[in-house]
Amino acid sequence: MALLEVDSIDVSYGNVQVLWDVSLSVEKGETVALLGANGAGKTTTLKTICGDLTPTAGEVRFRGEDIGAMPFEDVVKEGIAHVPEGREIFTDSSIRENLELGAYVDRSKMDERLETVYDIFPRLEERADQRAGTLSGGEQQMLAIGRGLMSDPDLLLLDEASLGLAPVLVDDVFEAIERINEQGTTVLLVEQDIYNALRVADRGYVIKTGRMTLSGTAAELAQDERVEESYLGA
Ligand SMILES: Nc1ncnc2c1ncn2[C@@H]1O[C@H](COP(=O)(O)OP(=O)(O)O)[C@@H](O)[C@H]1O
Ligand SMILES: [Mg+2]
Repeated sequence: MALLEVDSIDVSYGNVQVLWDVSLSVEKGETVALLGANGAGKTTTLKTICGDLTPTAGEVRFRGEDIGAMPFEDVVKEGIAHVPEGREIFTDSSIRENLELGAYVDRSKMDERLETVYDIFPRLEERADQRAGTLSGGEQQMLAIGRGLMSDPDLLLLDEASLGLAPVLVDDVFEAIERINEQGTTVLLVEQDIYNALRVADRGYVIKTGRMTLSGTAAELAQDERVEESYLGA
């Protein structure tokens, strides 16, 4: 049994359906990339996994348990952390306060988790008492990922972690993702940066206008010209 199984889900916003029969799986220990053009349905897929949205058909199973109808507060407790598109950090709060908010599920592990996050992102420790708004874009992204890690997730969902960052910071973010995975966290990442996503991922899926069109190992997808084509026709 895979750690995460998304099984033939349909998802709608009101009466507008945007996902059709979407399936994917993530094995424990893997990094899996979900690729696709703007508007393809990547964010919607992650929001359904983390409990922000409920599928109208199909199942989302985590460790075999159907979590499709579970609200996101409970999904976090099950061990899934979601780092949303656009960071959504509290710019007027300090870096430490932002991190502490990520540990609301189990505050007893706060110090241990802070240590883990500071180990991955030393810059956050150096600047722990500063307002989060004083961080650069790349550092704010690190903070958003760090906040996700504070709940000690088994599965980390990352939505466009590298979007809008300067190339050197993009490298930092992907390096951090690799380290997080090496330390035992399974990762499902959504990216428009095909090259870097397939560099750090074990496997990938391509979604186009709400339907899965391709899947394979990262090496297979990196060779497959249909991956890039799926970004053009959108
Ligand atoms: N809150 C919403 N209400 C209605 N439609 C939405 C909403 N959010 C996204 N959509 C639509 O759902 C489709 C998939 O969007 P999204 O999952 O955000 O794509 P991606 O993350 O791949 O860019 C798009 O057609 C988008 O316009
Ligand atoms: Mg998106």
